[in-house]
Amino acid sequence: MGPLAQPTPTAGSTALDRTTAESARPSSRLEMTGISVAFGGVTALSDVSLVVEPGQVHGLIGPNGAGKTTLFNVACGIVRADSGTITWRDRPLRRLRPDQLARLGIARTLQGVGLFAGLTVLENVMIGAHRHARAGFASALLALPRSDSDERALRGRATAALADLDAERYADRYPGSLPYPVQKRVALARALVSSPELLLLDEPASGLAEDEMHELGKLIRSLSARMGVLLVEHHMDLVMSVCDRVTVLDSGAVIASGTTTEIQADPAVTAAYLGEDVDVEHDAAELQAGTGADRA
Ligand SMILES: Nc1ncnc2c1ncn2[C@@H]1O[C@H](COP(=O)(O)OP(=O)(O)OP(=O)(O)O)[C@@H](O)[C@H]1O
Ligand SMILES: [Mg+2]
Repeated sequence: MGPLAQPTPTAGSTALDRTTAESARPSSRLEMTGISVAFGGVTALSDVSLVVEPGQVHGLIGPNGAGKTTLFNVACGIVRADSGTITWRDRPLRRLRPDQLARLGIARTLQGVGLFAGLTVLENVMIGAHRHARAGFASALLALPRSDSDERALRGRATAALADLDAERYADRYPGSLPYPVQKRVALARALVSSPELLLLDEPASGLAEDEMHELGKLIRSLSARMGVLLVEHHMDLVMSVCDRVTVLDSGAVIASGTTTEIQADPAVTAAYLGEDVDVEHDAAELQAGTGADRA
């Protein structure tokens, strides 16, 4: 079925008309329902459901091997679910190529960094801005615009995205010559340059020092004014300080879901983390004094 034509409010329309028109617009809401995935004989996800509301940061946590990256990969179309449905902007989301994902307003950063080593920082970010960019080095190069004005516009957007993340001075460097935290900022700039409405982040804080993590927390919180964010993360203090809601996975199943306060009080969550190097309550206390103060 094709997209329905949306009524456009005119100068003479009433507030009620406008409200009706706005509520009829497809919502930038990611809804995953009953997702199951098996790799060979291994069940990675079993009947997992999760909703990322527009303007909210949704945390996805759980011990190593819980299935977080698998669910993330289902959301961005890298992994096909064996069963379940994914809805984005009120329409089913099927397995997509990276360029299709960007055109739908979805951007992601992967676990690790994933920058092209043979392209400069600026070129890496320019590729993120190009909604027709495909994965792969050669096609990525081909995707760069050929007309001078396109190139200038794209360069401007990419430079602005780098500046937003305080990484503009690295524009002409190659990723391999930069410290890991800077590479992570560049990867984030590449995701943000396409002005997504949904941002998927897989362990953005890994390898960051405390102050960098604090900055990242502030950034994620500020981004949520413009987009929904799905945040896969092991750092509990970051999760508890920036997330509106949290889903906890263990062995491929949802064991808890709720606000950060509810999650911290849930004995099933503490039990799942037994033996892991994470202290949910300690980190929660830290957030009161630390990054939590930045929350709106
Ligand atoms: N491509 C794959 N082939 C086979 N098994 C896989 C594959 N990807 C993941 N798995 C398995 O699925 C389960 C979930 O893995 P996943 O990477 O989603 O966990 P995770 O929660 O992201 O873990 P981590 O915190 O270590 O990143 C694990 O048992 C893992 O070994
Ligand atoms: Mg993972």
